[in-house]
Amino acid sequence: MKGRQVLLTGGTGGLGLGVTPVVLAQGANLTITYRNLKEVERLKEVLPPADFARVTFIPANLEEESSVDNLITRIGRVDVLIHLVGGFSMGKTHEYSYYSWKREFEINLNTTFLVCKYSLKSMLDHGYGRIITIGSKAAVEPSGGLAAYSAAKAGVVAFTKAIADETKGTNITANVILPTVIDTPANRQAMGTENADKWVKPESIGELICFLASEKAKDIRGAAIPIYGGV
Ligand SMILES: NC(=O)c1ccc[n+]([C@@H]2O[C@H](COP(=O)([O-])OP(=O)(O)OC[C@H]3O[C@@H](n4cnc5c(N)ncnc54)[C@H](OP(=O)(O)O)[C@@H]3O)[C@@H](O)[C@H]2O)c1
Repeated sequence: MKGRQVLLTGGTGGLGLGVTPVVLAQGANLTITYRNLKEVERLKEVLPPADFARVTFIPANLEEESSVDNLITRIGRVDVLIHLVGGFSMGKTHEYSYYSWKREFEINLNTTFLVCKYSLKSMLDHGYGRIITIGSKAAVEPSGGLAAYSAAKAGVVAFTKAIADETKGTNITANVILPTVIDTPANRQAMGTENADKWVKPESIGELICFLASEKAKDIRGAAIPIYGGV
């Protein structure tokens, strides 16, 4: 990825803390979006100062089309899009609010549409692109209490495959990763550490992302790749 313009959304989140160093190690020119400066500070703590200085941080709300349009205009060119932004909530369907249902689609599926739409315009202009989106095991094996999340992530899978089909015959690819529980600080806090050794590590997801983002992965398109660790 040396010399490539990489846009990493959610790079300051729990998964992003592990993915960002792996992407930086590939020599990429990296832009990370954020909404909360405290999260940028948290990322600063885990990166060597020289690596942190290589990152361009741009504030953006990826649920707003004008914000995404401005983001891509500011970057100027996107070669690789790694879209980690997403969110999770649980609840049995008969107790689950319509507001929460819409939030799950907004944060998981609508952000994916917007950031892919504007990144693709740039990629089509210069004839090169790698798109990596994040689904979930729940997208392909939905379980009770996760209806909204499962449906929204299934949408991410279908949408990513549709982009892969639209870009056939070009050097642009799109693939989606399906993690189970990731070993993030938030999951350790919520579930304890008893089973943490089985959870997939963010760095491991980072390695898979970097392969899909590389020139070598030009023939992989429309794949939905499970990465379940020991779960
Ligand atoms: N954690 C898991 O076990 C797990 C399992 C399977 C799949 N995933 C998926 O993996 C991805 C990353 O998960 P994570 O655990 O790293 O989540 P996270 O810690 O909550 O990070 C999500 C990131 O997205 C940002 N974000 C949320 N809404 C945004 C918006 N409208 N505009 C711009 N940025 C926004 C958050 O910023 P703010 O701090 O400002 O909200 C945060 O930086 C998600 O797509 C998630 O669904 C996670």
